[in-house]
Amino acid sequence: MNTEIVYDITEGSLKRAADIILDGGLVAFPTETVYGLGANALDSSAAEKIYAAKNRPSDNPLIIHLSRAEDAEKYCITNDLYYALAERFMPGPLTVILPKKDIIPYTVTGGLETVAVRVPSCETARRFIEAAGVPIAAPSANLSGKPSPTQARHVILDMYGRIDMIMAGEDCEIGLESTIISLAEPNPKIYRPGKVTYEELKELCPELTISEAVLKAHKGRPESPGMMYKHYSPKAEVTIIDASRSERIAFLRDKAECGILCYDEDAELLCMPYAKGIGKESSPEDQARLLFARLREFDEIDEVKQIYSPMPKAEGVGLAVLNRLIRAAGFKIIKL
Ligand code: TXA
Ligand code: MG
Repeated sequence: MNTEIVYDITEGSLKRAADIILDGGLVAFPTETVYGLGANALDSSAAEKIYAAKNRPSDNPLIIHLSRAEDAEKYCITNDLYYALAERFMPGPLTVILPKKDIIPYTVTGGLETVAVRVPSCETARRFIEAAGVPIAAPSANLSGKPSPTQARHVILDMYGRIDMIMAGEDCEIGLESTIISLAEPNPKIYRPGKVTYEELKELCPELTISEAVLKAHKGRPESPGMMYKHYSPKAEVTIIDASRSERIAFLRDKAECGILCYDEDAELLCMPYAKGIGKESSPEDQARLLFARLREFDEIDEVKQIYSPMPKAEGVGLAVLNRLIRAAGFKIIKL
């Protein structure tokens, strides 16, 4: 397939993107979290093409992207809590799961009776959704199993030749996918942590809980099917080191052939050949922004067969960083 790459987001290129969507095609676009791979969420066969382009299992549901929080009314059964969350966090990196209306096909929801909705804050994403005039079903624009794309080049690498258009915009500001909260459970529950934190959501949802699948290997099918699959994995094995700074440094000192993710203040490690900084230990926001790009950088170094990472604290945005790392590592944690 011929893939058009668009570097200049103009009225003309947005119109072409919208026409592709209304014709049942696929367009990758930037958001503030990660790049998305969009199709018309009201068109079942367009949604099917997403699964094929990504090699994604078809029971893993898609998020629908809207340009205005009020539009959710047309596609799902909203409630007061949805509007309270929307008021505080939309547009932005929060996805809400609600019971779906008939207009949303089961191909989009992976056969579920619920649908996930999100209103991105990224200007290009919002202009694109508005131009299309339909909700945009979009997973992250990576091949299934790979780290999510946070730069246009990641999307081009994974999707060139597989989709109709790539809008090559800016690097993603947040770098990890949106927080997912379900309001379709007896009590609100976080299915996937992100930039909007448990602590922030708890202020509006006192009964909030966090799915066990966030930090543990699940038994059976988790609430959010995406948690079931191997995820975010670079070519090399990833192992998390649960240890103090000095123990971690001592352990890694003779691992010159390995990829090492480290905090900016880990000066002794940063001079090793395949070490890469992921921001300060105190800044999970920096770690979130850099993590997927760093994991992909190791794919370009043939020598690196093993990657070690520190273990961020499971609080605030750190919970999201830890959730992605644990999955990238396939739950391999060495406790020193
Ligand atoms: O930030 C994001 O959310 C990005 C950008 C592109 O918006 N999108 C994204 O989509 O991360 P994706 O498909 O890679 O991840 C969506 C996750 C999957 O784990 C899926 O299982 C879950 O959301 N999900 C979607 N609809 C659901 C539903 N109705 N019930 C439970 N989980 C759902
Ligand atoms: Mg994804």
